[in-house]
Amino acid sequence: MTKRHGLKIMLAALLGIGPFVTSPGRAADGAALYRGKCAMCHGPAGAGRPGTFPPLAGRVGQIAASPDGKAYLAAVLVNGLHGPITVEGQSYKDFMPSFRALSDEDIAAVLAYVATLGGSAPAPGISAQDVASVRAVTMDAAAVQAKRAALQTSHVIP
Ligand code: HEC
Repeated sequence: MTKRHGLKIMLAALLGIGPFVTSPGRAADGAALYRGKCAMCHGPAGAGRPGTFPPLAGRVGQIAASPDGKAYLAAVLVNGLHGPITVEGQSYKDFMPSFRALSDEDIAAVLAYVATLGGSAPAPGISAQDVASVRAVTMDAAAVQAKRAALQTSHVIP
């Protein structure tokens, strides 16, 4: 095989594969996003790891049931979160990275998926618009944490 021929094959392969990797029109798949970007810390079913990664199953659906809760969840994904926080009586002081690089649609889809984990009630929806309005407001780690503290006091966050 000539070098030029090999290059052509490579180019064809790249063009063939490209659309599957980067197509902007693809529908966001919350379950796949969760498996690829969240499960390594929060666990495949969202159970977390006591003392290190807080559980999400059964909690995020409850938090997302109110508009303030939805805004908080989007703020965590866009800005990240740095403890200390208290979840189910357990203290967490670790670091949640920002997922700002994901699109509004992807963040909404992964949160909507997490809201279904471990819940008995129908999971509340989270829209790309919910995420977009949160993204428009700059928040540092302290601001996200203050928002969380206020929502925990008012029992929006269990
Ligand atoms: C590198 C590990 C890691 C990854 C990856 C990660 N998280 Fe987190 N997440 C954390 C940690 C640690 C916390 C708690 C931060 C703290 O201790 O202050 C947290 C907190 C959260 C919270 C807030 C929970 C609460 O009670 O306030 C949500 C919601 C969340 N993560 C969702 C996600 C989603 C969705 C993804 C995937 C897109 C994700 N996380 C990926 C480590 C991670």
